[in-house]
Amino acid sequence: MCGIVGYVGSKNACPVLLEGLKRLEYRGYDSAGVCVVGDGQLQIRKSQGRVGVVERQVLDDQEMRPATVGIAHTRWATHGEPNEPNAHPHADDTGRIAIVHNGIIENYATLRQYLLGKGHTFRSETDTEVLAMLIGEFYNDGAGSIEQAVRAALGEVTGTYGIAVACAGEPEKLVVARKGSPIIIGVGAEEYIVASDASAILEHTVNVVYLSDNEMAVVTRDGLRTLTLDNVPVPKEVSRIEWTLDEIARGGYGHFMEKEIFEQPESVRMCLGGRLDKRDRRIQLGGLESVVRTLARTKKLIVTACGTAWHAGLVGEFLFEELAHIPTEVEYASEFRYRNPIIEDATGVIAISQSGETADTLAALREAKDKGALALGIVNVVGSTIARETDAGVYLHAGPEIGVASTKAFTCQIVVETMMALMLGRRRLMSQQAMDQYIDELERIPEKMSRVLEQSETIRQVTGEYIDRENWLFLGRGYNYPVALEGALKLKEISYIHAEGLPAAEMKHGPIALIHEGMPVVFVAPRCATYDKVVSNIEEVRARKGRIIAIATEGDEDIRRYCDHVFYIPEAPAALQPLLTVIPLQLLAFHAAVLRGCNVDKPRNLAKSVTVE
Ligand code: M6R
Repeated sequence: MCGIVGYVGSKNACPVLLEGLKRLEYRGYDSAGVCVVGDGQLQIRKSQGRVGVVERQVLDDQEMRPATVGIAHTRWATHGEPNEPNAHPHADDTGRIAIVHNGIIENYATLRQYLLGKGHTFRSETDTEVLAMLIGEFYNDGAGSIEQAVRAALGEVTGTYGIAVACAGEPEKLVVARKGSPIIIGVGAEEYIVASDASAILEHTVNVVYLSDNEMAVVTRDGLRTLTLDNVPVPKEVSRIEWTLDEIARGGYGHFMEKEIFEQPESVRMCLGGRLDKRDRRIQLGGLESVVRTLARTKKLIVTACGTAWHAGLVGEFLFEELAHIPTEVEYASEFRYRNPIIEDATGVIAISQSGETADTLAALREAKDKGALALGIVNVVGSTIARETDAGVYLHAGPEIGVASTKAFTCQIVVETMMALMLGRRRLMSQQAMDQYIDELERIPEKMSRVLEQSETIRQVTGEYIDRENWLFLGRGYNYPVALEGALKLKEISYIHAEGLPAAEMKHGPIALIHEGMPVVFVAPRCATYDKVVSNIEEVRARKGRIIAIATEGDEDIRRYCDHVFYIPEAPAALQPLLTVIPLQLLAFHAAVLRGCNVDKPRNLAKSVTVE
């Protein structure tokens, strides 16, 4: 995730900024940069790679003038490759205004066109450079001050941002603003440290001011003025940070996995950001633009992946077939690569991978490409090998996933598949009315996820009742069959409990022999076309004295008659249910691992990125 640091005070700004960036490294990034205001000039140094590279540039540069004001950034690429031109800070084309930005400017393409028309030239592919240029446009057009120029520019912007802006014409000042992406201001003795995350502030001060959404601040050495984006003053209290650095890295959660589970409403928002065109009611996936017409005529899709990403692929099979009417197969990458698969004309292969480096998935992708398939990627890590080797693709924008057990990447993989299926479906057969409904439903998913997360404590208590059981079953049907597989995988990989996931109707063909008194069986049973059939399966387990935990739809009180415990998800169309039903299962696995004293974030024998066969 991108990180912001800013400094206004009497110290040499560069070392403070670079130290701050190092504190943010844990968030993951692929390029870094600083800008200091020395002698009334902006001095920008940036690079692909680590903060240390920028630090060496700064130290080796005899021309760097000492400065006491500056901004800095670590970038986790969203718009454009991780390279030097795309790294922040970005300046306007006069070189007098520089900005660092977290978030996504959704209407950047329209603004870019407007600014090109005004004669501006761009060096990068980023949405942030567009914002820098827009602020410059207002500033040079007589806005009066950098504060007013920022306000005017933000008035034209749709999307999310946390920004810090430096201006050569007003060298003692930073302007910062927030909408949807955090900005905190550390209050020291005649110095202020701006950051997107308290870990960059803590070594200077524990006293901070939090900006809320739609607020900005003008920061000078002499003081801090906070106001709304509409220019109404907002007095702010100074709060104290109570967390240690380590706690901050985990966002106050005990484990990265827990943080990532709870981040899902936000990561899904990020994933949807700029892609649901609310005005024209369509889906825009920039990374597929070059192939979308070919893809709409594709005769077959093959999804290939491993582990959790493979489960996301199984959900994709339902999505692509139901919403886009494209025949779809899902293949374990490790099998596909050695099977000499038949790739017919007009076949698209989609490799799904959080890391973008999984050896089996990469090999499967290469095999498919060699055989003439259109190679597509659904990847989280920007610039990773799979992302580079595909013909086109869509990034998750889920932010770095640190816990070995994949959680937020899974839900974002499904969100991307859903958007792809809708985009292709609309080009093939789907009515605008159906599209409208799905867009509305997708937008509601983050809020619904938050409601499911509220049940964490109940799920912990129920999990505790079964913590000594060594064998679990997870069952589901249709869209929720892959969710059952994912629930079982989560439980085994972090708590080392044996678990199996199955399509519910398969139980009677063998696994029912396992059911015995007290065995925990989890049914993913929200309201959908196969609901009654799943209830029959529940009865079969009940008859054999298994203990039943169900994931059901809010308002389904009836299901309590057959089950020992029920966790609820809000109502949602079947195609979107996996985004909700998986959350109780992630929480169940997480609590089981904690209760059994396991190393949640680094389970034994597992690596985050499996780059070997
Ligand atoms: O980075 P990838 O998504 O390609 O990784 C694939 C699997 O190795 C990964 O999903 C693995 O199964 C996780 N540990 C599951 O939590």
